[in-house]
Amino acid sequence: MDRNDFFDLHAKTWNNQLTCEKTKRIKKILKHAGLTPGQTILDIGTGTGVLLPFLRKAVGTKSKIWALDYAKEMIKRARKINGKSFKYVHADAQKIPAKNNFFDHVICFSVFPHFSNKLKTLKEIYRVLKPCGRVMVAHSESRQGINAFHNKLSAPVKHDALPPAHIMKKLFKASGFHVPNIHNTKTHYIASAIKKTKKIQVQTCLSKEGKEQPD
Ligand SMILES: C[S@@+](CC[C@H](N)C(=O)[O-])C[C@H]1O[C@@H](n2cnc3c(N)ncnc32)[C@H](O)[C@@H]1O
Repeated sequence: MDRNDFFDLHAKTWNNQLTCEKTKRIKKILKHAGLTPGQTILDIGTGTGVLLPFLRKAVGTKSKIWALDYAKEMIKRARKINGKSFKYVHADAQKIPAKNNFFDHVICFSVFPHFSNKLKTLKEIYRVLKPCGRVMVAHSESRQGINAFHNKLSAPVKHDALPPAHIMKKLFKASGFHVPNIHNTKTHYIASAIKKTKKIQVQTCLSKEGKEQPD
């Protein structure tokens, strides 16, 4: 069984994992994202679309939100649960069917450890982000918690892990991103970085961003 089959197999029961505590943590994570109304968002590894209602609330009804997953059954359920106001994309994150410079924000929630080629995937995310766009890798657990959880599962996800901060920063930099920032706490893990291009100063990007909201 490969990872794709593994996730297809779990699609039916996936939403049982959404507890009140997880909802609280998701809200907290999204406050850190600094999303603003009107932004175009990509939710990579959307699964059954757990994040979608929260993203919609953050960016408003006029924004485009794409929900991407390579597991057919997950995308099917995401569409069934969340309806037509999202664009559902059945694709691998290594080959995102979007133009260059398209998204303001790309979120990888509970998916980064499963990317078979993390550098290639980050480079692809860099391609589809607009200049000053932000990528956010997030989990509603600490890095240690996620890695220990995967380790208790069977193949093919048993060895899927979030790299330590210094490797994560290297991966961001090697894919072109700037100002990598990593928060690892008991209740969440957030690693984010900005797409800066030659023509644009990091400071310009930071001042353009929505201000992080307090917890
Ligand atoms: C652990 S689940 C998380 C789902 C959802 N984000 C959530 O929090 O409920 C990971 C999801 O990422 C998808 N996935 C893993 N690797 C992927 C890739 N390379 N491209 C697209 N989707 C991927 C899986 O199919 C699965 O639905």
